[in-house]
Amino acid sequence: MELPNEMTQMAAEVHESIMNYLEYGKYAKLRQAMKHYPEGGGKRMRPILAMMVAEAIGRNSKKAVPFGCCLEIIHNFTLVHDDVMDKDPVRRGRPAVHVLFDEPTAIIAGDALFARAYDILSESEVDGEALRALVHTVSETVYLIAEGQQMDIDFEGRQTVGVEEYLEMVEKKTAVLFACAAEGGAIIGGGSERQIKDMKECARLFGIGFQIWDDVLGILGDSKKTGKPVGSDIRNGKRTLIIVHAMENLKRPSKDRDILLAALGKEDATDEEVKAAIEALRRTGSIDFVSSKAKEYTAEAKRLLQCLPECKEKQMISQLIDYSVNRDR
Ligand code: IPE
Ligand code: IPE
Ligand code: MG
Ligand code: MG
Repeated sequence: MELPNEMTQMAAEVHESIMNYLEYGKYAKLRQAMKHYPEGGGKRMRPILAMMVAEAIGRNSKKAVPFGCCLEIIHNFTLVHDDVMDKDPVRRGRPAVHVLFDEPTAIIAGDALFARAYDILSESEVDGEALRALVHTVSETVYLIAEGQQMDIDFEGRQTVGVEEYLEMVEKKTAVLFACAAEGGAIIGGGSERQIKDMKECARLFGIGFQIWDDVLGILGDSKKTGKPVGSDIRNGKRTLIIVHAMENLKRPSKDRDILLAALGKEDATDEEVKAAIEALRRTGSIDFVSSKAKEYTAEAKRLLQCLPECKEKQMISQLIDYSVNRDR
């Protein structure tokens, strides 16, 4: 499944602006480290969402470009740090920043991207009240991402993690940035309080579905398409919904439980052990369960699109939501 042409075009526009915004500063090495992920592409779903919502409500997607770029740069900053935390060497099919440079440079480049993001936000052509609201939602969002990332890391060392805890973690690490995109797009579009609130909630559900599907791709995906290592969540002992479901449903003792535990959280697990663990997850029904859960979230998200006027963009946002849980990259 691919994104509609209009959205690919928006992504290209955002890409160009971001590369211009990052042509900044005197220190070439830092600049290269900052540009490395944005240069590698990515789907740019968050700016597309912000621009689509601004267009659907106020016919002014152009006004949402700086905000969209700000979110995409924040997204990239969190990815630079995330790959250090997750010890993942590859992103977007290229070496991670901490591999191409080193960990200190990745930490600094992430911080520097975060700073650039706020400067770009300040260029938004919106009135003072709207700008204040944008600064507030972006700041709150980045704080919540930090909480979510902290939970993600702390869960690695835990025996059991419940579904509710998993959902809080992914809402914070991932869904809040989608929620921020839609909320900000609605603010820039001049939406009513109801529209701003409903679009924020719509994108929160969308983001949870997106992350659940991302966890599936981390296990079943083709790394040539995702551009990310496959199986590293298992070796890292990540408490994805697949693992949470399996741990709750695998009998103890059982052969499949042993097979899963032989690879889960074992950095040096062999490819065969990881493959066997994935087969055990399949037999437990965890992958099917999680795939349908992702789609339940996006179905609920699409219902909230009711708050938008009938228009082409509303249909496209619906397609974007469907894409998030059918994508292979
Ligand atoms: C990856 O996000 C990180 C998660 C929150 C799962 P994306 O899948 O949107 O990454 P890019 O930007 O397209 O590479
Ligand atoms: C990424 O989560 C979330 C953030 C960067 C905030 P993951 O660690 O699950 O995503 P990938 O698989 O590395 O893209
Ligand atoms: Mg990661
Ligand atoms: Mg992570």
